[in-house]
Amino acid sequence: MNNPKRYTVTAALPYANGPVHIGHLAGCYLPADIYVRYLRLRGKDVRFVCGSDEHGVPITIKAKKEGVTPQDIVDRYHGMMKNAFADFGIDFDIYSRTSSKVHHENASEFFKTLYEKGALVERETQQYYDAEAKQFLADRYITGTCPNCSHDGAYGDQCENCGTSLSPTDLINPKSALSGAIPELKGTKNWFLPLDKLSPKLRAYLDEHKDWKSNVYGQCKSWLDSGDGLQPRAMTRDLDWGVPVPVEGGEGKVLYVWFDAPIGYISATRELEGENWEQWWKDEETKLVHFIGKDNIVFHCIIFPAMLMEHGGYVLADNVPANEFLNLEGDKISTSRNWAVWLHEYLEDFPGKQDVLRYALGSTMPETKDNDFTWKDFQARNNNELVAILGNFVNRVMVLNKKYYDGVLPEGVTLSDEDKSTLAGIKIYADRVSKGIENYKFRDALAEFMNLARLGNKYLAEQEPWKLVKTDAERTKTVMFTASQIAASLAVLAQPFLPHTAEKLKSFLAIDELEWSLLDQELILKEGHSLGEFGILFDKIEDKEVDAQIEKLEATKNADPDYESVKEEIQFDDFQKIDLRVGTIIEAVKVPKAKKLLNLTIDLGFETRTILSGIAEHYTAEEIVGKKVTVVANLAPRKMRGIESQGMILMGETKEGKLTFADPGQEAENGYPVA
Ligand code: 2FM
Ligand code: ZN
Repeated sequence: MNNPKRYTVTAALPYANGPVHIGHLAGCYLPADIYVRYLRLRGKDVRFVCGSDEHGVPITIKAKKEGVTPQDIVDRYHGMMKNAFADFGIDFDIYSRTSSKVHHENASEFFKTLYEKGALVERETQQYYDAEAKQFLADRYITGTCPNCSHDGAYGDQCENCGTSLSPTDLINPKSALSGAIPELKGTKNWFLPLDKLSPKLRAYLDEHKDWKSNVYGQCKSWLDSGDGLQPRAMTRDLDWGVPVPVEGGEGKVLYVWFDAPIGYISATRELEGENWEQWWKDEETKLVHFIGKDNIVFHCIIFPAMLMEHGGYVLADNVPANEFLNLEGDKISTSRNWAVWLHEYLEDFPGKQDVLRYALGSTMPETKDNDFTWKDFQARNNNELVAILGNFVNRVMVLNKKYYDGVLPEGVTLSDEDKSTLAGIKIYADRVSKGIENYKFRDALAEFMNLARLGNKYLAEQEPWKLVKTDAERTKTVMFTASQIAASLAVLAQPFLPHTAEKLKSFLAIDELEWSLLDQELILKEGHSLGEFGILFDKIEDKEVDAQIEKLEATKNADPDYESVKEEIQFDDFQKIDLRVGTIIEAVKVPKAKKLLNLTIDLGFETRTILSGIAEHYTAEEIVGKKVTVVANLAPRKMRGIESQGMILMGETKEGKLTFADPGQEAENGYPVA
């Protein structure tokens, strides 16, 4: 779309179940931010929306694993991500979240509209059901043996051992990850979006966008052209974490996370704009651009457009510039293996160096194919480019102007043809930068920005004002004046890529506003202009700094994979809430039909408790009677197999997985605290 009235730019809502890493940044947040900062610089009306994606099964699994609620998990990561993005300079107009009231209402309303229009099809399917936990099981909640490689811990959607994608019914000996019970197939009703029927409309939409990046266009095409074509897809799930299904029969179900998440973009805009939100989503002259990673292509190019089409009244994305994946030191980035550079850790380890990472990632962004981030490359980008080219040029301009003219640009300059042609270079490079950004070629754009700094260095190296000053004071003035113009143009052009650096340059050069229009002027800085105070733009990064980062990564690689990572730090007050007491097992009985459970009667001194413990595969009832144990005495009671368990006993584990007692010692007195 040429010359839209306004732009709505979205960046994929990251799942709030882990911190942000460099793969996320290079995949979509950095390119989106460069694009938006550039549009703002060009005076465009733009809204940049994002937020945390707080629903979805992985979040509920993490919560279960840690014994906390899904809300606890998302609360933990939402703030952390929001702060890290802000510190790094990802300049969202709003960073919202999908557990917000606005979003729940908005997503509900959207679903209801589709439902009322008859755009959804109700269908009964057979799903695995855990009779013990009394709930249907999401694919991730079912484990079993992989039919492909016989691996025992395959999930209902994928075997992580051999990578095959699976359906829950493919698993041999399926087991519920919630209770260990054997799940049964049971009929359940859900609402489906009939993508099969919408195929022609989606194909027509795609056909209008042959200009999309080939990785994006190609993936969509192969979805549409695949053997059976598009299939109806369930937009609701039998789960209890998410946006409740707001129609009759929807009790106990929530909206599919990939239904609600993209609506999150709209919700965030509504939160930001109040009553004025509609123009950002419904006006034909609004250009909508989604920045995402390649694993999100189908959702943004097929499913979300299908939802918007069926709803009616919305504009569809003009472009979806998805990036490929960024690897780290030759290996796939992995949150579970801790193989990542975490943004919050980077910001701590390299304070004030946001733009170094922006530059390194901007230069290696996986725009057309997967790419690799290495710490050595990061160091080289900093030392050989930011320090040696950009920093060096700016420093020479500032130092020499200070030395020769006390920081006031000389007057009475006479530009030679050579100076004029050097200055003409500013426009040429500025055009290349804007072309690159407008065509979503951010690496090229960044390279052209650095080329302009190269031009500045070349000019100074040829003119040698440090020698010239001794023989031709007049000419030196013109040379420094010309070089200063290039420095000023760099300040303007740095803004989309290196916003922190642009701010420094603005103050070094004492420019009021770094507007794009300055680049159209004959001269940016006038004769007699007073420059500001200045310092060093970039410091060299020493070997030891990157070596430490490499060692940190190596340590993860060598870490015993059996060690679980340590949970998030808690405060002493949090710990104080847990009441640990000494107890003695006075009776133990096997729980019928439960392989793992023993029913223990524990003497706590002041009372006796019934506690169910999953240790039956490790100890017989007889051998543990009389044992001293550590009891979590204030844990809320929980019913298992119809028996109320009134606490928990603490156990350790051997390397082989045998459970051992956390023994407070024979002399410890029942009922007394363990602390
Ligand atoms: O892949 C992800 O991280 C998803 N949470 C992206 C969601 S994008 C959108 F639809 F909100
Ligand atoms: Zn397998």
